[in-house]
Amino acid sequence: MMKYLEEDFEFHKPIDNYPYEQIRDFASGWFTEKEGEWYRKQCNFIFNGNIIEIGSYEGLSLSYIKDTIKNNNNKIYSVDKELNKRLIRNCNKWGVNLIQGDSVNCSKLFPNEFFDLIFIDACHFYKYVKEDILSWLPLLKNNAIIAGHDYDNYWVGVKKAVDEILPEKKLIERIWYFKKTKLFK
Ligand SMILES: C[S@@+](CC[C@H](N)C(=O)[O-])C[C@H]1O[C@@H](n2cnc3c(N)ncnc32)[C@H](O)[C@@H]1O
Repeated sequence: MMKYLEEDFEFHKPIDNYPYEQIRDFASGWFTEKEGEWYRKQCNFIFNGNIIEIGSYEGLSLSYIKDTIKNNNNKIYSVDKELNKRLIRNCNKWGVNLIQGDSVNCSKLFPNEFFDLIFIDACHFYKYVKEDILSWLPLLKNNAIIAGHDYDNYWVGVKKAVDEILPEKKLIERIWYFKKTKLFK
């Protein structure tokens, strides 16, 4: 856990004005307000649905969508290979179903076309982003959105994988997103 996080912070340091030290009392993270608002808006459109976030760290990004559990009767799942105290506490408090495990392995726990929204924010290296997208995409319903974080010039692996698999994705700040349609193979 610590090793991964220390490396992660190191990777973010060279970028000017990057909100990597957005420390909150309940969770630190890299999500901007604008990204959080976009995420919340997407989940607010979903009722009685299943939403999954892969890679939650301490739960900052989850904090933007947690209210849709009560308000919209959504189920929210979080997959992370490393659990920390803040994430466990936050998920318990908010009613998020927290699953400890590797992204690709955990994708096998769910049936195809189960999710109304999938958000990928786990390992940002090309091989892993590609595996994540390819493993989780079949689990997304038609007309639903798959998205992820850190599409930028720093995380070249994220950009490369997303551009290759989903060239028609759209962007909002560092979030990439794509609506799956029946025509998409
Ligand atoms: C960038 S952080 C997530 C930040 C969080 N989404 C936020 O914005 O508040 C990446 C997280 O992905 C997790 N992770 C990395 N590789 C993973 C993998 N293969 N499977 C599951 N989780 C992974 C790490 O443990 C870490 O907590």
